[in-house]
Amino acid sequence: MSPSGKRINPWHFFVLTDTDKIRQLTACRTYGSQMFDTAQAAIVVALEADKTDVWQCDGAIAAHNMLLAAEDLGLGGCWCQIYSRESSDRLVRDIAQVPQQLTILCVLSLGYKDEQRKDYDIDKLSYDKIHWT
Ligand SMILES: Cc1cc2nc3c(=O)[nH]c(=O)nc-3n(C[C@H](O)[C@H](O)[C@H](O)COP(=O)(O)O)c2cc1C
Repeated sequence: MSPSGKRINPWHFFVLTDTDKIRQLTACRTYGSQMFDTAQAAIVVALEADKTDVWQCDGAIAAHNMLLAAEDLGLGGCWCQIYSRESSDRLVRDIAQVPQQLTILCVLSLGYKDEQRKDYDIDKLSYDKIHWT
């Protein structure tokens, strides 16, 4: 139940659990798609872009909420960019059977983490980017 502009909910989610299909997704980018080599699931986030001018925002919030939910469940996840990458779009559309009228924003990889990364040092965040005006 992610928020969306005017509550249009323009998203569609194509969930892949078939290992062969998930592995095929590795080829969707020359760099930045290697997580599909080991991921246990993938979710293609696609939007009815003709329904609203804020479809990218709606899709991004929904996608990121899923990544946060995955983290909450102890899973790992990563965003793989598809929108504005034409050859990536073709391959993902084909594998996940996404109809032409939907615009693919990204594919999320999901799975069990094989490493626990160190937390960011909150003292080293870019506090100079916060502008108190
Ligand atoms: C709009 C967007 C596009 C992204 N595209 C990719 C991608 O194609 N491949 C990838 O591996 N990670 C991608 N990422 C993940 C970022 O690289 C990652 O969130 C960032 O490096 C922070 O990583 P961290 O959470 O480990 O600090 C994308 C993230 C966003 C928000």
